[in-house]
Amino acid sequence: MDLDQTISEIHAKILSALHDASTLEAVEAARIEALGRKGKLSEISKTFGKLAPDERKRIGALLNSVKQDLEARIEARQAALESAALDARLDSEWVDLTAPAPGPRPGSLHPVTQVQREIEQLFVSMGFTVLDGPEVETEHYNFDALNIPADHPARDMQDTFWLKDGRLLRTHTSPVQVRGLEKLGPPLKMIAPGRAFRNEEVDPSHEHTFYQLEGMMVDREVSVAHLIYFMKTLLSAIFHRDVTVRLRPGYFPFVEPGFELDIQCLICSGKGCPVCKQSGWVELLPCGLVNPAVLRHSGVDPEQWNGFAFGLGLTRLAMMRYGVDDIRLFLSGDLRFLRQF
Ligand code: DAH
Repeated sequence: MDLDQTISEIHAKILSALHDASTLEAVEAARIEALGRKGKLSEISKTFGKLAPDERKRIGALLNSVKQDLEARIEARQAALESAALDARLDSEWVDLTAPAPGPRPGSLHPVTQVQREIEQLFVSMGFTVLDGPEVETEHYNFDALNIPADHPARDMQDTFWLKDGRLLRTHTSPVQVRGLEKLGPPLKMIAPGRAFRNEEVDPSHEHTFYQLEGMMVDREVSVAHLIYFMKTLLSAIFHRDVTVRLRPGYFPFVEPGFELDIQCLICSGKGCPVCKQSGWVELLPCGLVNPAVLRHSGVDPEQWNGFAFGLGLTRLAMMRYGVDDIRLFLSGDLRFLRQF
């Protein structure tokens, strides 16, 4: 086979490889096959010495023109592939600059805050005052003034976080009853929402930190009928629907008589779930008539005044209201939870 034919076959083969090349790597492979240091055309150049001068000149010219042609085509093919790759990238990374911006996501109030504000509004509309009290309390306000003396078994009912100085994190909002009466005197209609703390094992229905809302009305002739009226008004306002309730006698040193007002669990409709500890009922509203001893401790004459009181579990109420089955979510700060409200 003569050299001319070999060269033109190589030429044709590489042209066809270039035509088929769909990647830069394929183009490079074709380039190396023809023009690389050990490429087919380079090998031919090496055999020049053996040719007659005329032949050498002719073949040399042919070889050069083929090389130049291939170089130009390789460059063109590379450029075409690069620009196609760029086009594809621009297509896939395309940004619509005219699309409306998503805008800031508005925040929302914590579900407990929402429930708290709603109840505050309700009671304010009925003439109640909203009071606040310290979260770090004295033993006197948290226990003694509420008729829970040091040796009283009721102290064991509430696992207390004690401070080194003898004070404590209030275990309930009831101390505000005494503080309110001392400050404002009777007649008094007050509520006191706030945090309470207990040193207990955390599980789906227990937190060490939770919200309560204390309520108290002290006047000349307050009866259980008043209590029931306000509790019914409260519950129907909160749940915007009929709830099933039951009243049981309950013992709390600061009320006499004392009651447990339970509501049928709204999460499982009474069937039993972790929130109601499988009982179908949730203790929501302990209440009763204010124990005369508490009035005396607050500087109020029980011969002249009496009252009712209740302690609403605000966090538990929010769970019922929104169907949350794990109390720990409220303090989690988890935005996936909080954004639902
Ligand atoms: N302080 C009680 C507790 O946290 C709840 C309570 C019960 C409050 C009866 C009251 C009441 O005002 O009358 O367990």
